[in-house]
Amino acid sequence: MPDRYGVIGHPIAHSKSPVIHQQFAKQTHQSMTYEAFDIRPADLASQLNTLVDDGVKGLNVTVPHKNAVVDLIDEWTDRARQAGAVNTISIDDNGRMSGDNTDGVGLQRDLTENLTVQLAGRRILILGAGGATQGIVPALLEREPEQLCIANRTPEKAIALAKQFKDLGDINAIGFTALNDQTFDLIINATSAGLAGEVPPFPPSLIHKHVVCYDLSYSMSDTPFCLWAKNNGGEQVYQGWGMLIEQAAESFFIWRDVQPETEPLRAMLP
Ligand code: ATR
Repeated sequence: MPDRYGVIGHPIAHSKSPVIHQQFAKQTHQSMTYEAFDIRPADLASQLNTLVDDGVKGLNVTVPHKNAVVDLIDEWTDRARQAGAVNTISIDDNGRMSGDNTDGVGLQRDLTENLTVQLAGRRILILGAGGATQGIVPALLEREPEQLCIANRTPEKAIALAKQFKDLGDINAIGFTALNDQTFDLIINATSAGLAGEVPPFPPSLIHKHVVCYDLSYSMSDTPFCLWAKNNGGEQVYQGWGMLIEQAAESFFIWRDVQPETEPLRAMLP
């Protein structure tokens, strides 16, 4: 019997994880299946137990369960604790669940290895201070940027995150309006504004010839942030497809102890 894996979320039909993991399994000759499980928030605890009872070996966790599962699992890694969220659960033969978070390392690999963007000694700006930002800050600080700034519509949330991670590196909060006078080497959009087709009032002066713009969101066409960056003269503008594939590869490695090649999937990207 192949080992069973899957992704839990709500809604889940749009998830690309089944396609990605099925490709990894084929490529590395692993005997496993990977399904999408649509679980409503009210059913999370009971459905998770059912999946464990059914012998599922591992799960990816996506919106809206990433934070809620933290209270339902038995142990978690430092990465998951720092992120305050779990996107990967491993389940052992006794049904014990351990949680990890591979989002940060996924972004780090896409930036540094795939896109050859240097992080050390650079000035990085993150737009947004929600769960997505919390998940990526530790991995970015690990690369020792000169400075990591967080700008958010609600400044208190940026200030709170900067305080939370202050022991990991040079990190500070900044208001949208104060961004006018600043220059960055890398700008990461971690707001969810694009889901509503919006681009927050970021000053166009942030964009210059050498800045790298990276949207954690992804779409078959330009995301609103990518379009905004290109329209303002951005020449190195990327969506989060690579991060999606790299975080999946790290989950796959955790479960199967085999590192899949990500290049074949990245080559298929828009
Ligand atoms: P996620 O898990 O995707 O990070 P979240 O925790 O709800 O979701 O955070 C969403 C982020 O996008 C927040 O930083 C939010 O700003 P606020 O803290 O001010 O709410 C930001 N965001 C969402 N829509 C936005 C908009 N239209 N303009 C500016 N920021 C927006």
